[in-house]
Amino acid sequence: MKASLLARRDVKELLLSHPNLELLISKLESKKIKGILSKELISEITNEINSEKELVEIGRTIAPIKPREISPAPRPHGLEHYDISLFETNANEIDNEIEVLFEITGNSITEGRKEDINSFFNNRFQRISAMIRQQGLPNRPISISKLIQERRSRSGYNTSSTIIGMVNDPKHTKNGHFTFVLEDDGAETDCICYKDKENPNPIIKTGLMQDDVIAVTGSFVDDRDTFRVDEFHRPPLKRHHKKSSEIGISVAFLSDIHVGSKTFLEAQWMKMVEWFHNDPLAKTIKYLVLSGDVVDGVGIYPNQDKELAIKDFYKQYSKFAELLELLPEWVECILLPGNHDVVRPAEPQPALDPEIQSDFNSTTFVGNPCSFKLHGVDILSYHGKSIDDFVSMPEVSYAHPVEAMKEMLRRRHLAPTWGKKTPLSPEPEDNLIIGKIPDIFVTGHVHGHNCSDFKGTTLICSSTWQDQTSYQRMLGFQPQPCILTVINLKTHASASIPFA
Ligand SMILES: [Fe+2]
Ligand SMILES: [Fe+2]
Repeated sequence: MKASLLARRDVKELLLSHPNLELLISKLESKKIKGILSKELISEITNEINSEKELVEIGRTIAPIKPREISPAPRPHGLEHYDISLFETNANEIDNEIEVLFEITGNSITEGRKEDINSFFNNRFQRISAMIRQQGLPNRPISISKLIQERRSRSGYNTSSTIIGMVNDPKHTKNGHFTFVLEDDGAETDCICYKDKENPNPIIKTGLMQDDVIAVTGSFVDDRDTFRVDEFHRPPLKRHHKKSSEIGISVAFLSDIHVGSKTFLEAQWMKMVEWFHNDPLAKTIKYLVLSGDVVDGVGIYPNQDKELAIKDFYKQYSKFAELLELLPEWVECILLPGNHDVVRPAEPQPALDPEIQSDFNSTTFVGNPCSFKLHGVDILSYHGKSIDDFVSMPEVSYAHPVEAMKEMLRRRHLAPTWGKKTPLSPEPEDNLIIGKIPDIFVTGHVHGHNCSDFKGTTLICSSTWQDQTSYQRMLGFQPQPCILTVINLKTHASASIPFA
């Protein structure tokens, strides 16, 4: 009574036999829960107490224990900026205008032979070097074999030469210098960029990725065979001027729904469904972009079956189709796969199988990555598996995945590294090159959330619909689930709506 809790007769036994009654009541008080105590509520709080106890007993360094109520997501772009009066019509009165510019489905032609791998890398080398040359380099680039042949005349501090190549084995030395091998189609050379306290080179701080294409300017010094790098050159990245739609229309972004997992947040999905049917802002949303991992899949990691509520992937997709069906009929989905989906893991990944597609209405199925236009606005959507490789860079972490997206734009490539965490399909053309800077660039995969501007492009890390998994808890990673990112394609105003 002191805690303003009312215990009815049907929970009397449960309370009298409860091993931690005082703790249970203080927990309810701390959560400001008052009124009638139901059996469900008691068992929910008891489970929470037990799981906390379990974690403490394991005695490991543990992530912050997941709070029962997920605190509302921060709103970097509050709704006050999202002026509903700018929309002349509701989304249900506007026809679809989706124009897919690139996705791989039906066009994967590699046989995975050595020649395919060669032409894949040659294509990358040619296209990114052409972008780098566009901006004008300090001197005309020469081939690495010519540099080596003319090594004597290209030595000394007063000479400088520029070469373009692909990076191999980039690393920082113990003394803080940066070394790598640069290779073009004819030869290779060791390179070093010395640490300079007064004039630090930004590349020394950020490093490079294996298989990046860059140009460097420098010379041979001290009679060594290592090329001393003074300057790095990348494709130009000027301020981008976004295109806008003629009409006021919104697009929403989500990713990593992970239907089928025990940690899929169904109650929060229902909250969003209700919002979609009632909120004036929702009536402006014509499209929902789903950037991969829409189901949890089966056999994706060891012992996954213990974490699955639905153990058959067909049923996982059917369930997701039912959940999408609850959204208003005017919302058109654009769905691409991720590493949990049932398609080949090698990127670019094709769209989901037609048999799976048949479960869905109002959905456009595309591959990963996919570039497309919505009412004239360029969008690049990529699931983001390569962020697992980009986190090796000092500035990038799972907590700041948007830094990985900036790195992708800087090198004009979504997944440069071959043979590490991101499987790549060696197509004769490297389809993971970012040929054109998009107006909106969206990823998922890391279960974080961000919406920010980078040199005129809107970067979106789509939020997940999966709660913290036991693996993430062990790693100390707190996801940011259930945040719908919404963009007005006419004004590019954004809103982040939390449903947790
Ligand atoms: Fe995911
Ligand atoms: Fe993923």
